[in-house]
Amino acid sequence: MWKKIDRYLREQALNINREKELEMNRRGFIAASLGLLGVLFLGSFPFAARALKPENKPKLPAVRIAGLDELKVGDSRPFQYPHDNEPSLLIRLAENKFRSYQIKCTHLGCPVYWDKATYKMTCPCHNGFFSVEDGSVLAGPPQRALPAVELDLRADGVYAVGLVPVEGHEGV
Ligand code: FES
Repeated sequence: MWKKIDRYLREQALNINREKELEMNRRGFIAASLGLLGVLFLGSFPFAARALKPENKPKLPAVRIAGLDELKVGDSRPFQYPHDNEPSLLIRLAENKFRSYQIKCTHLGCPVYWDKATYKMTCPCHNGFFSVEDGSVLAGPPQRALPAVELDLRADGVYAVGLVPVEGHEGV
């Protein structure tokens, strides 16, 4: 009889210990997982900060588009930038005022052209209109501005030197 009671009590004690062990293991696992996530999250900050630094963006090549005497005020010149399959347009708005955009329409990709008469960048496919000053959408279905090409005026002509966010585009 005493043996039976003793065995029963030992079994109960073992079960209690096992449950505690399981609970401790679960808590330990969750705590370790959260700790690991925290370490990974904090550890990624330096890499994210480095990747977001402007000087770490890949530098695009400087490409001469036209000589200053090759483009009359009000005219435009097509070119490819930064790669061969990316049509862009240089527009001369005044003696020393140029704008340039990639001209794949941000709606469905039709080529946008410079309409001197209306003073607008125009997409003929669905009547999309963009400002020649900053590439922003004026009318029609496009939801995003035209990507602006950064320009540099040099002694021997106008150069494309990068792509800039439309908000920061000042042209030259
Ligand atoms: S593709 Fe340009 S407005 Fe639709």
